[in-house]
Amino acid sequence: MLNIDLTGKRALVAGVADDAGFGFAIAKALAEAGASVSVATWPPALNIFMNLLERGKMDESRRLSTGELLTFEKIYPLDAVYDTYEEMPDDVKTNKRYKDVGDCSINGMAQRVAADFGEKGLDILVHSLANGPEVKKPLLEVSRSGYLGAVSASAYSMISMVQRFGPLMRENGSFVSLTYMASERVIPGYGGGMSSAKAALESDTRTLAFEAGRKYGVRINTISAGPLASRAASAIGIIEKMVEYVSQNAPLTSKLTAEEVGSVAAFLSSPLASGITGSTVYVDKGYHAMGMAVPQ
Ligand SMILES: NC(=O)c1ccc[n+]([C@@H]2O[C@H](COP(=O)([O-])OP(=O)(O)OC[C@H]3O[C@@H](n4cnc5c(N)ncnc54)[C@H](O)[C@@H]3O)[C@@H](O)[C@H]2O)c1
Repeated sequence: MLNIDLTGKRALVAGVADDAGFGFAIAKALAEAGASVSVATWPPALNIFMNLLERGKMDESRRLSTGELLTFEKIYPLDAVYDTYEEMPDDVKTNKRYKDVGDCSINGMAQRVAADFGEKGLDILVHSLANGPEVKKPLLEVSRSGYLGAVSASAYSMISMVQRFGPLMRENGSFVSLTYMASERVIPGYGGGMSSAKAALESDTRTLAFEAGRKYGVRINTISAGPLASRAASAIGIIEKMVEYVSQNAPLTSKLTAEEVGSVAAFLSSPLASGITGSTVYVDKGYHAMGMAVPQ
């Protein structure tokens, strides 16, 4: 049998704070395939996430096919808009959500991973996070800081992670990020420069695949997922309509599940995908192929 076998591999999924989004489903799929999985969580969401875990509120979704509960090897605090601790402003460092977590920059997380697992201790890194402070504003109205904030949190963070985690990856390491079709087609309502951030993320996937492929021997791909009513997507304000529209107009009419994205991420992270890098892989029920809405 041809199996996705990640036995002995170590993965880190950045952008997990509940069980509703793509990050959680990807973490679970990687664990189902045998990987040991750590996650990284945004400090403002960390307490709620730890509470959900400790109070057993996620036990049902954590149940693996073996009957065991998905457990995370480590849970790292991460604010992906900071590359180093020195860059974090004092009011952030002393904020009540940040003051006890220490260095939650991308560099800080890389140092913790190296301390916990050694200089070559990681095989898989998944970037499943995005943030656009002005996501509800049309591009035509976005401020410079709102635009740069979206690109910083949602696209540059991936470059910064490849810079700092590339050297920590074992042979045949894999990076996967999550993107959205608003990068290449107009999705009214997906504002704040988030469409620009996703376009940058996809373009960077190609260039980083080349540069980091040559330098570290790693692969870098991005999954263009269809709409899912996750916590982040609910911030857009029209996610239910987007989900409905896609199910009415895509080649496949069943609604996309996070698990469908999870299994593709596990495949892309596995040796079975050793020939795939620099790719944008659509997991959207085929919606990207359509050129006209289906008459209802
Ligand atoms: N839900 C959709 O419809 C959809 C479609 C295509 C792509 N995506 C992408 O999938 C990825 C995961 O999003 P999701 O929809 O599963 O939602 P989600 O809410 O599960 O994940 C987003 C995560 O990003 C974290 N985050 C926000 N700002 C951060 C920061 N500065 N530093 C670190 N973490 C931060 C949030 O705490 C959250 O855990 C994102 O890149 C998103 O753009 C989502």
